[in-house]
Amino acid sequence: MTTQTVTQEWIEEVLEQHRYLRSVVAALREYLNEPRPAAGEKGSHSWAAELSKQLMTLHDELYRHFRFEEEGDVMDELIEAHPEAAGQLEAVLGEHPAMLSGLRGIVSDVLSYSEGGRPEDPRLRQRITDLLDELRDHEQEENHLFQRLEYRDVGAAD
Ligand SMILES: [Fe+2]
Repeated sequence: MTTQTVTQEWIEEVLEQHRYLRSVVAALREYLNEPRPAAGEKGSHSWAAELSKQLMTLHDELYRHFRFEEEGDVMDELIEAHPEAAGQLEAVLGEHPAMLSGLRGIVSDVLSYSEGGRPEDPRLRQRITDLLDELRDHEQEENHLFQRLEYRDVGAAD
């Protein structure tokens, strides 16, 4: 049995969280593909209320996940061990706040839509899809980056 370093365990935990987030996002995409009742029509309130619930769940899960990636010593250790990747690591983690605030803006618009306080925004679905695509690209980049760094560590130990 090979002994795992703290960094390797951390990377595996991150990859596991990414898998879980992909399932949350997949459910959300599926929901978005369902027909949406027009604002003010029967069912439009509950459609938007359910959507905002799913978006808030995603927000909370993401918030927790981003904190896990940002906090602790592992990121500092990774940067120390791979100074050549420091810029890339910092840049990718630096994308977190904008994604969270984008998601909060969408949640607030969906809530206002569900309360009938705003005319139907035809771009709502597109904005959500764009954000989910951005999140997918972001997590993929992290996956590649972390796995590449882990592979180098393992390779160096052999
Ligand atoms: Fe991540």
